[in-house]
Amino acid sequence: MSNEHGSLIKSPKQMIIVVVASFFVPLLIILLLMVFVNSGKRGENTATTEQLIKPVAQLNFKDASAPREIQTGEQVYKAVCSSCHASGAAGAPKFGDAAAWSPRIAKGYDSLMTSVLKGKNAMPARGGSNPADISDYELSRAVVYMANAAGGKLPEPKEPVAAPAK
Ligand code: HEC
Repeated sequence: MSNEHGSLIKSPKQMIIVVVASFFVPLLIILLLMVFVNSGKRGENTATTEQLIKPVAQLNFKDASAPREIQTGEQVYKAVCSSCHASGAAGAPKFGDAAAWSPRIAKGYDSLMTSVLKGKNAMPARGGSNPADISDYELSRAVVYMANAAGGKLPEPKEPVAAPAK
């Protein structure tokens, strides 16, 4: 009873409990606060993610019927035909080589076009290109581009009416 008005801590055991509690109670409060703040943040993040996703998803709407840009003869030549015709590989008439081209041009545009569309000897049909990538019209522009670069005077092919207007 002598210690009754003294400290509340009356034994080493109580001392340990107080020390441990004074360490863990604030820690627990901090932990709880962190959980609280994080849960708030998580909610925020979900909202931001939704906001971020939305415009991206909208960008994915692509008009499949949108007119595709029609390539010029030069573009088609560079993309497809130059792999053989720039060097004259596999016996291809070389680009700009009038001597190699003049007998071919003399056969007429339709004959050249048929060779390109169906292929001729080492040249695969359409020069190996895909009709989904390069249309007949674009191929014909490439033929005229190549023929005229080698001294031909073929008129620029007319754009087919069915082709989507640019
Ligand atoms: C894989 C190689 C290769 C590619 C790619 C290629 N050609 Fe050729 N091309 C040839 C060869 C080889 C010949 C000669 C064929 C022959 O007369 O034996 C030729 C011939 C031609 C001729 C003359 C045809 C004739 O009747 O004399 C034209 C026009 C022509 N190519 C256009 C094109 C165009 C346009 C492209 C691109 C769309 C193209 N070529 C892509 C190899 C190629």
